[in-house]
Amino acid sequence: MKATDELKKEHRAVKTAMAILDTICQRIEGEQSFETEHLDQLLEFIRVFTDTCHHGKEEDILFPALEAAGVPKEAGPIMVMLQEHETMRGYIRGFAEALDQYKDGDESAVDQIVENVRAYLQWLESHIDKEENILFSIADVHLDAEMQEALYQEFEELEEQRIGRGVHEQFHEVLHTLKDIYLENNTNNGETKLNASVIPPRERHPKIFQQFEALAPGESFILVNDHDPKPLFYQFQMEREGQFSWDYLQNGPEEWQVRIGKAEQV
Ligand SMILES: [Fe+2]
Ligand SMILES: [Fe+2]
Repeated sequence: MKATDELKKEHRAVKTAMAILDTICQRIEGEQSFETEHLDQLLEFIRVFTDTCHHGKEEDILFPALEAAGVPKEAGPIMVMLQEHETMRGYIRGFAEALDQYKDGDESAVDQIVENVRAYLQWLESHIDKEENILFSIADVHLDAEMQEALYQEFEELEEQRIGRGVHEQFHEVLHTLKDIYLENNTNNGETKLNASVIPPRERHPKIFQQFEALAPGESFILVNDHDPKPLFYQFQMEREGQFSWDYLQNGPEEWQVRIGKAEQV
């Protein structure tokens, strides 16, 4: 396994957690119910899975290997990534404090929860974009296959030392449960159904792309809409050419359903 591929794989799980957090923020803003326990679980996920483990692998293994391979640390993408990790840690602390206050009975602390979580999500979204489109491409140029494999082995060791064996898998299970609650109307084969007609127009395409990003290669979701989502198809063609599949399951006249899939090899 290539070290950078492993990090990208982890980004998929991180993005699922982000989509769940985003949904909970929307629920809070819409004054709908939410479970404090789920926020506890997500806080644990972003602290342990995302920060300790994933950012730990980047900071303590990948970035030093890149420096050793001649990528400058100061004034370059590595420095920016390190600074962003720190910025995000600030928002995680803000989220944790607000959640504690809320649990202590201060209901007004929900505003602070949403504010910190939203800021965190915004930073993380662009952070992952930069890593996948800039830093990991640099890494793929500077690190040969043998080095990538060696780093991947180091990742495994770091994970076992810092969070312990099997914990990573437990997080995936928690995420799966929360995904069922917040993100999906499950179809028979476990595909997510996303009803675009209930999403405000301005957020519609970003939400759908977010859903697409959270898919693993080979996975799909079903988009439901009250009109033919052709403009979306054109946007996919322009922005994700060769990376997606598009199959009409129902083609009007009142409802449209499209299975949107992510290609096996992207
Ligand atoms: Fe990072
Ligand atoms: Fe990352």
